[in-house]
Amino acid sequence: QAFFKSVHNSAPPSPTKRHIKVSVVGAGNVGMAIAQTILTQDLVDELALVDANPDKLRGEMLDLQHAAAFLPRTKIHASVDYSVTVGSDLCIVTAGARQIAGESRLNLLQRNLALFKDIIPSLVKYSPDSILMIVSNPVDVLTYVAWKLSGFPSNRVIGSGTNLDSSRFRFLIADHLDVNAQDVQAFIVGEHGDSSVALWSSISVGGVPILSFLEKQQIAYEKETLENIHKEVVGSAYEVISLKGYTSWAIGYSAANLARSILRDQRKIHPVSVLAKGFYGITGGDVFLSLPAQLGRGGVLGVTNIHLTEVEAQRLRDSAKTILEVQTQLGI
Ligand code: NAI
Ligand code: LAC
Repeated sequence: QAFFKSVHNSAPPSPTKRHIKVSVVGAGNVGMAIAQTILTQDLVDELALVDANPDKLRGEMLDLQHAAAFLPRTKIHASVDYSVTVGSDLCIVTAGARQIAGESRLNLLQRNLALFKDIIPSLVKYSPDSILMIVSNPVDVLTYVAWKLSGFPSNRVIGSGTNLDSSRFRFLIADHLDVNAQDVQAFIVGEHGDSSVALWSSISVGGVPILSFLEKQQIAYEKETLENIHKEVVGSAYEVISLKGYTSWAIGYSAANLARSILRDQRKIHPVSVLAKGFYGITGGDVFLSLPAQLGRGGVLGVTNIHLTEVEAQRLRDSAKTILEVQTQLGI
């Protein structure tokens, strides 16, 4: 059975294209964390910032430009006019309202949907061949909205999804086992939110499946410990938002991690929000949610066919149902 199921025939870009341009819409906490990380990691030749607030936008642009002596040479510009995004390879959308303490991501939908009806067509007008990466919440539903409004093939519309949740998951597991988080392979899938699903059956540490790793190390564990780690992942954003008012650094690194895989054609597997209908028995409509997908210069190159237990598959279908229930109110 093919390890990857092709999502679309994602044609690679022209091999001669070397100048890489990324646009970030929304120069707030998240947009600027992403921009700063992309610059630090030398991922682009040109960075364009868009925001509705011209003073904030100019201030952020100047503040980044003033770091030029410490960064690889990158052209940085900003405008409230979307023409500044022309010819982008990747457009990252972080504009919109964020949760207040205790508020769910889904509660942001109507406010951010209204913004997307202007933002997405404007990006498509100037970068019709770009890849869209949606970060604004509720990210899964807004990725569906971006797909519908853009008219792009589904391989070129990606939500940051549970790439962030999976990093939190890997951190907590690594902390529990006193190992390096980069040696923990672990996926959270489904909704980037309260109904996310921990794929315990496929977690490995240094290549060793976690449950046998624990047995080999004679580390006592109860199922409850593992479930509590997932509960902590689901509660992470609420905790950080209650303490500092928003989250930014982890999503900044997460989005830059995805941008690297796309722009450098890394063909790495990430849990990101993709068109999931037809996978793992998900039916009922076009729904975007996170599945382990291979990312490269053509966007989503394929969705991995990893094994899910029946319980995990059912929880994934339940997560899809939650998203679809919200989506049906959109009228899109
Ligand atoms: P923020 O309030 O700091 O920034 C939002 C920015 O959007 C502001 O600068 C505002 O001027 C701008 N904006 C508003 N309307 C606009 C429009 N029509 N066009 C262009 N710009 C516009 O908020 P923050 O903390 O940056 O969060 C932004 C979004 O990212 C929220 O929806 C938040 O929930 C989401 N987020 C998603 C994460 C994920 O893992 N998917 C993680 C963290 C935040
Ligand atoms: C997060 C929320 C804000 O940080 O989406 O996961």
